[in-house]
Amino acid sequence: MVIIRGLEESEFLSKLYPLLERCFEGSKEDKRFYNLHHERPYNAPAWDYSRIALVDGQLVSHVGIWSFTMSVPGGFKMPSGGIRDVCTDPAFRRRGLGHLLLEDALSFMRSKDMAFSVLYAGPRQFYRQKGWEVAIPGYRFTLDASRITCKGEGDHAFTINETTSEQLVHGIFRMRKATNAFLWFVVERDIGYLERMIDISLQDPNQHVVSCSDSTGHLEGYALLKVNPRNERSSVQILEARFTTGSATRSKGIIDAFLAFIKDRFDPGSISVQLSPNHDITRRMMGLGALDRSSLLTGCMVQVVSTRVFLEVLLGGINHMLRAQPASIPSTSISCRFIVRIGTKINSTPERRPCRIFFNLDPSDGIPRFELAGGNECKEESHVPEVSMSRETFLSVLFSPILTVGDALDEGLIQAPRSLHAVIKLMLDHASWDLEPRDYF
Ligand SMILES: CC(C)(COP(=O)(O)OP(=O)(O)OC[C@H]1O[C@@H](n2cnc3c(N)ncnc32)[C@H](O)[C@@H]1OP(=O)(O)O)[C@@H](O)C(=O)NCCC(=O)NCCS
Repeated sequence: MVIIRGLEESEFLSKLYPLLERCFEGSKEDKRFYNLHHERPYNAPAWDYSRIALVDGQLVSHVGIWSFTMSVPGGFKMPSGGIRDVCTDPAFRRRGLGHLLLEDALSFMRSKDMAFSVLYAGPRQFYRQKGWEVAIPGYRFTLDASRITCKGEGDHAFTINETTSEQLVHGIFRMRKATNAFLWFVVERDIGYLERMIDISLQDPNQHVVSCSDSTGHLEGYALLKVNPRNERSSVQILEARFTTGSATRSKGIIDAFLAFIKDRFDPGSISVQLSPNHDITRRMMGLGALDRSSLLTGCMVQVVSTRVFLEVLLGGINHMLRAQPASIPSTSISCRFIVRIGTKINSTPERRPCRIFFNLDPSDGIPRFELAGGNECKEESHVPEVSMSRETFLSVLFSPILTVGDALDEGLIQAPRSLHAVIKLMLDHASWDLEPRDYF
C-alpha cells in the first residue's frame, strides 16, 4: 500500500536522511547542493514541506519543497516553491512513485498559494512530463587554459585573492542584491544561505573561493571553484561566479583577470563552466574560444503553479512599468478576469485613449494556452481572444534567453494582430527573466 504525506520531524534522521544518502551516493548530483539542501527545515516553514511516499510503511521516495520569494519590479513579491532532493529508493524506481510525489508537491504548493516553481533538473524528461519546462538552459563550456593569454584588468586597479573571510559573505550578499536590481525575476536568498554555501564549499579541500576587490576593498566579483585533479594537469570547474555589472569593459577586465588568476594559481589544463550562454562569463569564455559541447546538460526548469497568483503578481509589475512609459505609447493597462481591480485602478489619464487588455485564462489552472482578449470592462465576459500562445511559448519568452518576443511573433508562435505587436512586445519583453546579461541565476 502506498501512502503519500508530509514528513514528520521524528522521521528525518532515522528514515529520510538514510534514503537521501542511499539515493545520491555516487550520483552525478553536485554534493555541494545536496549538502546545502538536506538540512531541514532550511527554508521550509515546516517539516511537511518534505513530501514522502511510504510503501508498506517504508519510506522510499521523497520530494522536498523549499519556500522562496521571487521579486518582480515595483516591489511585487511572488511566493514560490523550489523542488529539491527528489529521489526514489533504487529498489522502488519506475513504479510511478516519483511522479505521484511531484503531483502531490504541486497540490501542496497550490495549497500554500505558491505561484511558481523552479528546479535544477537532472532527468529533464521526468519533470517535463509533470509540467516543468526548461527556462534557462545550461550548457557546459570548456576553455583550453592555453587560450588565456590576457592579464585582464586594463586601466582598472583591483586585487584578486583567495579568501575565507566572513566579510566575503557580506560582500557577496551586497553584490548579489546590487546585481539583482537589473533583473525582473529574482530568487531571493538570505545571508544564511550564502554563509552555508561558502562554509560547505570551503570544507571541501578541492573547492576555493576567489574574490576580487577594488582599491578601497569593495567587492567587484567572486567565483566558487572546484579543482579536479586528474593525472598531471588538473581542470577547474567554475561552480558559481558573479561580477560587477557597472560597465561592460570593467566587467570584461575583471573576468579576464579572474581567468588569468585561475590559470596562474592552479595551472589547469582547462576551465569549464556550466551555465546559460547569456552569462557574462560564458560570453567571455566563448570569445576566448571556449568549446560549447552543444548539448543541453541541465537547466533551470520552471512551472506556473497557480495562474491566479502568478498573474496577480506579474501584472502588478507590468502595470507598474506601463505607468512609467512615455506618453507616446498608448496608455495601457493589463488585467485578467481574476484581478479586474488592478486594471480598473490603473486607468488612463483623460488625454490618453484607454486601451485595455484582458488575460482570458482557463481558471482551472490547466493552462494549455494563454490567450489575451481585447475588450473593455463592460464587455469583459464576452471578449474575443486576439492573442494566443502555447504555455511553452509563454514560458520561453519569459524565461529563455533564446526566444525573443519579436521572433516568437514573427514565427507565428504568438498569434496576434499587427496592431497589438507593440503592446505584446512592451509587455513580455520587459517581463523577460533573462533580458539582461547576468552572471549567475
Ligand atoms: C529520478 C527519480 C527520482 C525517478 O523516480 P521514480 O520513482 O523511478 O519515477 P517514476 O517511476 O515516477 O518515473 C516516471 C517516469 O519518469 C521517467 N524517468 C524516471 N527516472 C528517469 C531518469 N533517471 N531519467 C530519465 N527519465 C526518467 C520515465 O519516463 C518514467 O516512466 P517509465 O518508467 O514509464 O519509463 C529516481 O530515478 C532517482 O531517485 N534517481 C536518483 C536521484 C536523482 O537523480 N534525482 C533527481 C535529481 S534532479
